Amino acid sequence: MKFFADTAIIDDIRDLADAGLLDGVTTNPSLIAKSGRNFLEVVAEICAIVEGPVSAEVVALDYAGMMREAEIVRKIADNVAVKLPLTIDGLKACKALTDDGTMTNVTLCFSANQALLAAKAGATFISPFVGRHDDIGFDGMDLIEDIRLIYDNYDFATEILVASVRHPVHVLQAAKIGADVMTAPPAVIKQLVKHPLTDKGIEAFMADWAKTGQTIG
Ligand code: G3P
Repeated sequence: MKFFADTAIIDDIRDLADAGLLDGVTTNPSLIAKSGRNFLEVVAEICAIVEGPVSAEVVALDYAGMMREAEIVRKIADNVAVKLPLTIDGLKACKALTDDGTMTNVTLCFSANQALLAAKAGATFISPFVGRHDDIGFDGMDLIEDIRLIYDNYDFATEILVASVRHPVHVLQAAKIGADVMTAPPAVIKQLVKHPLTDKGIEAFMADWAKTGQTIG
């Protein structure tokens, strides 16, 4: 499963990229607002750090406006994936951009039928939001299972990008289901390394090493 960082904070992106943990980045208008940075500038910076897809979301709600904005955004770098909302206009823009060789990420997906439409429109990625599903009392992972089944039934090439990931269990479940990608805040990705027995083991090894009185090098 590919790991994308769901953030527009450059230091966090560098940190994960240096550890070889980053296959791409996703941003959205809320994350851009949180970063306090200029949208086009920060996307260009991210694209220079990360080789994989970097999702940059258009904010127009009509087809012509989306295409105008996509034209600007996709010129930033070859690894930009234009992020579009799951509406009819968004799907029209998805088809046009995909046909033109641009990567697309159809976002705000909350049903398997919506995911089916995005695949038919040729989306490179579909972003089902699991955390927001959980927030309203549904199991977001049921949605991922349904989309996996449907995409496999028809050999759709669209990649399932699990979004709105809030904790390590989401990551584990997404991997078990066979999602293609998951995007999570850097803090969640870093949490994956944590295990109390690892910390305890390090502590014990250090204590025993100290008893030897040796140093390396
Ligand atoms: O990028 C979209 C998605 O990951 C947002 O997550 O936590 O705001 O629901 P969240």
